[in-house]
Amino acid sequence: DANDLEKGTYPHFMLKEMDEQPAVLRRIIKEYTNEAGELAVPQELIAEIKQAERIYVVACGTSYHAGWVGKELLESLAHIPVEVFLASEFSYNQPLLVEKPFFIFLTQSGETADSRQALVKVNEQNYPSLTITNVKGSTLSREANHTLLLHAGPEIAVASTKAYTAQMTVMAILAESLRREKGIEKSFDMAHELGVIATVIEGILSDKEDIHEIVKKELADTRNAFYIGRHMDYYVAMEAALKLKEISYIQTESFAAGELKHGTIALIEEGTPVIALINEDNVASHTRGNIQEVKARGARTMVVAMEKNAIEGDDVVISNVEEMLSPLTTVVVTQLIAYYASLDRGLDVDKPRNLAKSVTVE
Ligand code: G6P
Repeated sequence: DANDLEKGTYPHFMLKEMDEQPAVLRRIIKEYTNEAGELAVPQELIAEIKQAERIYVVACGTSYHAGWVGKELLESLAHIPVEVFLASEFSYNQPLLVEKPFFIFLTQSGETADSRQALVKVNEQNYPSLTITNVKGSTLSREANHTLLLHAGPEIAVASTKAYTAQMTVMAILAESLRREKGIEKSFDMAHELGVIATVIEGILSDKEDIHEIVKKELADTRNAFYIGRHMDYYVAMEAALKLKEISYIQTESFAAGELKHGTIALIEEGTPVIALINEDNVASHTRGNIQEVKARGARTMVVAMEKNAIEGDDVVISNVEEMLSPLTTVVVTQLIAYYASLDRGLDVDKPRNLAKSVTVE
């Protein structure tokens, strides 16, 4: 069908969509650069969010995971408190809201029923909202007050890849826009840094066979696996675990590395794969400690680390980028891990069992 034509020489949409990520990042930077050469979102949107005492991010699945990264970006760059909610929980358990809330709906498709239901509730209460979506004219885009597009191009594979990186990028630009508007001093050049990240992702993608080798060696017959990390690495771990489980059917869970000792470590047996993500200076030694703890109980560990915090023997070393934006590079490694784990098991990478690209029932 027409879809297969779009795949070109790629065996799977997922592989094509992962490979498109550097181009998507560059396209987003271009789309959101104003005449003054600054990264910006429309002024009406900035004016409205500026009034808010607190932002509530509502989403499902991969978009929900992007929401956690967005929270960190908005809080640290723009100094606005943010809470993140699963749409399926929000609708019948609305949190106690501040007097002036602002809602952000993150949804690749713009059609997810759980998210839409939450937006209907928000609209009934006349609260201002923004939908960040890949699909122009989608339901959530039409029903929110503002829309920011992801410009990622159609995403066909059920496992979301480029939409996740695009969501984080657009959230970063929104946070940067708000920071500038509020006159908060900048700690790094966002436009430059996003450009660097596009190049670093290209590097990861061009070495993808190295990741395939690691997967063959470490994940070939396993039935379960764990991802661990702290802070930004924990948010990426949540997405990494979802990706791996949804297309390889390896039962994968993510844990904030410090929580392992409060229960999960009981599951570690001889040979259990544990993948640790290490980017930030202030978590590196603590996560290293957790790796030792699981190793001592027989785990087979893999480490994905940022260059400045990497040590001899780490499995994947990623070039240094701004710590706050490290999910953009790290997640690509974990997408490739999921892809190869699925491929090597002979599974249907693009259409995993029981899942749909867009879930339009609550
Ligand atoms: C489905 C898809 C996921 C996606 C989620 C939310 O479950 O399989 O990949 O993250 O819906 O979709 P949305 O379009 O709202 O981002």
